[in-house]
Amino acid sequence: MGMNSRSVSIFGLGYVGSVTAACLAHKGHRVIGVDVNPDKVEMLEAGRSPVIEAQLDELVAESHQAGRLRATTDTSAALAQSDVSFACVGTPSHRNGKIDVTQIEHVCREIGRGLAAKNSYHTIVLRSTVLPGTTQSVVVPALESSSQKRAGVDFAVCYNPEFMREGTAVADFFEPPYTILGAEAPQQLVPLREVYGWVPGQVFETSLAVAEMAKYVSNAFHALKVSFANEVGTLAKQLGVDTEAVIRIFTSDTRLNISRAYLSPGFAFGGSCLPKDLRALEFRANELDLRLPLLKAILPSNAEHVERAVETILHSSKKKIGLLGLSFKAGTDDLRESPQVLLTKRLIGEGCHVRIWDPCVSLGHLIGSNRQFIDQVIPHIGSLLWTSLEEVVGAAEVVVIGTKSVDRAELAALLRPEQIVIDLVHLEKAARPEGMTSYQGLCW
Ligand SMILES: NC(=O)c1ccc[n+]([C@@H]2O[C@H](COP(=O)([O-])OP(=O)(O)OC[C@H]3O[C@@H](n4cnc5c(N)ncnc54)[C@H](O)[C@@H]3O)[C@@H](O)[C@H]2O)c1
Repeated sequence: MGMNSRSVSIFGLGYVGSVTAACLAHKGHRVIGVDVNPDKVEMLEAGRSPVIEAQLDELVAESHQAGRLRATTDTSAALAQSDVSFACVGTPSHRNGKIDVTQIEHVCREIGRGLAAKNSYHTIVLRSTVLPGTTQSVVVPALESSSQKRAGVDFAVCYNPEFMREGTAVADFFEPPYTILGAEAPQQLVPLREVYGWVPGQVFETSLAVAEMAKYVSNAFHALKVSFANEVGTLAKQLGVDTEAVIRIFTSDTRLNISRAYLSPGFAFGGSCLPKDLRALEFRANELDLRLPLLKAILPSNAEHVERAVETILHSSKKKIGLLGLSFKAGTDDLRESPQVLLTKRLIGEGCHVRIWDPCVSLGHLIGSNRQFIDQVIPHIGSLLWTSLEEVVGAAEVVVIGTKSVDRAELAALLRPEQIVIDLVHLEKAARPEGMTSYQGLCW
């Protein structure tokens, strides 16, 4: 047994609880499992796993024999014999999709009653999947009211999401992609750091809400990937194209495809390729009578994001708007399907006075389909474009940053304290001008 072995209680012996219990016991911690279901407790007490999962029977038997894994239905006894408690109870859906947190409320009230009878410091760790804010708004009040003690003072509350997949849960537990430890103050995480002293991979210490949200974002992305692959495969098959070959090539690109690229919240996509190519795929799918709702949802989602920017700007109740950047990305004068152009059109329609600065865009130089596009969407674009940043920022009540190629110092020197700055493109913190009194990111 290692120096940092802990006494741990696990509330809820379903998949997550049973795997957590057996794996932590295997790592040398003394573990006591608790469940309201006496059959599960009895099984664990007899050295058998309460759930069917690869490798779990062996692990349970081994730790049970070594005397490091026990179970009880007695909450107070479990609390008295441990200093860290994991809550792994279920969070099922109501019929309308709303998450049901009653099991969490119940288990926290029971843990709280046990805490009332305890003199030493205790750490409570929620593992169930819950929406951001739940640990603070459900777990903390339930524990405080039934223990008559204070979170952060008399006991610690942490959130530690589980990333195991059923079928490979034990292997996933020992080699997680990362470990996320959430708390309102880092010192509350000290016992949890010791529990996870053995863990490979990155360990992130963060707030409760970030830890809670990271779990949902991961699951939503995994689901998105499955559906994306299935829709792409469906289309390929119907077109007589070898799906496997396409996916093999597609996934081999770890620069743009399987990477952080395009995964930074910012403004809508645009330009002459992505919208056009999505429309072409959708048209072909329609011809083949294929329903591909995910691919079909991408352009509406993108349009909604432009609308979100419009609403954010209108919400300021100001009419004089200075837009920095008109082309769809920095360093180009391509205006075709630029969301900044669509934004401008919407703002003009709402009665705003828009001045635009974009050093790459000079009307005299625009030719061909690029010129045609802008002439169609905003025929009087010439009267909105200004060559001097000063004249655009100077006249604006709201400065909208729509390009990454704006000089930080130059902009900082022009901004006035009463101006509202709305960033569409997610400038890195180091690239943001200093001295902004009101800065808003579009979705960060
Ligand atoms: N199953 C997975 O692969 C997985 C993976 C990651 C996260 N999660 C999340 O983890 C949570 C638990 O999932 P699960 O699949 O283990 O659930 P589960 O329904 O299999 O197990 C929950 C257990 O908690 C017990 N329980 C309920 N109230 C209790 C109380 N007051 N005291 C003691 N025990 C109590 C139940 O009897 C049951 O045995 C959920 O929020 C789930 O979304 C699950």
